[in-house]
Amino acid sequence: MKTILTGLRPTGNLHLGHYFGACVNYLKLQDEYDFYLEIADVQGLTDNFFNPEKVRHNVKEITIDLLSIGLDSSKVHFFIQSRIPEIAELTVFYSNLVTVARLHRNPTVKSEIAQKKEIFGNEGESITYGFLGYPVSQAADITCFNGELVPGGEDQMPLVEQCREIVRKFNSIYGDTLKEPEILLSENKRIKGLDGNDKMGKSLGNAIYLVDSEEEISKKIMGAVTDENKIKRDDPANPNKCMVYYYHKLVNNKENINKVCDECQKGTRGCVQCKKELIESMNNFLSDFRAKRKVYEENPELVDKILADGTREALKKAKEQMVKVKKAMKLDYEN
Ligand code: TRP
Repeated sequence: MKTILTGLRPTGNLHLGHYFGACVNYLKLQDEYDFYLEIADVQGLTDNFFNPEKVRHNVKEITIDLLSIGLDSSKVHFFIQSRIPEIAELTVFYSNLVTVARLHRNPTVKSEIAQKKEIFGNEGESITYGFLGYPVSQAADITCFNGELVPGGEDQMPLVEQCREIVRKFNSIYGDTLKEPEILLSENKRIKGLDGNDKMGKSLGNAIYLVDSEEEISKKIMGAVTDENKIKRDDPANPNKCMVYYYHKLVNNKENINKVCDECQKGTRGCVQCKKELIESMNNFLSDFRAKRKVYEENPELVDKILADGTREALKKAKEQMVKVKKAMKLDYEN
């Protein structure tokens, strides 16, 4: 059985972008692979070191979200990054194998730095050593568990590529020790936001969260962007310019989707009715999640146990890997 390793930063609840962009994939993979799912609190801190409460709170929140979408803790090892010190150790070892220039060229890092510049202005003051180096730490996340496949969105491609380079460099210097991981791209690449932005994101304020209540869902969908050329109820419109149609396609059945599209084009469907139907479909889609989530909310000790068990398994695997790494690097003083 091949090993899968992926991670999520615990900085907020899961939204539809996470769900359709990545998590649906996890649900299939959990049956076929030895699956390690890292709650990447250390990586979360690279952006939130000044706000440890936020990261701490969201470790549990995101774990509950992941369990409630249907991930099965008897198949997936849920673990907390900071509880595996071997990852931090490996990060230090790898830091010699990557240049600062290469990190700056990493497309994901580059775009994140550009975003920070927009917010903070002077790059020199806002980019920390820890932030610039997070791809190295992520390479340690993956290889500490001999991760062979890394499911993720397109933004994770440069990080996996960086990991592959580190692995090749390590193996060429210290001997064949590590496996080169491959990315497993999600089919649904990126989910658009309520405002029509290409990306749904927390910082963009355009996300529908799985944990949103019926009232929140209603309010958000009522405010979703529609075809601006449709002014009157019976104006024909272009569904492809409408976020309501876009989400219908995610959560509704084929027959209804075709109907929405058809009626929208003909001008026989008003936006208010269309939004109400989407609210209903969205609530149906979320009902299973809500029921599962309620169980975990009422029994938080279940979540603690799942994290403790998964972390124990992960630690075992990481320790075995470190024996090999230290031997290769001539750091095996104990043997
Ligand atoms: N970089 C990922 C994110 O931003 C989180 C992550 C941490 C990760 N470690 C990982 C993803 C290892 C894949 C593999 O969400």
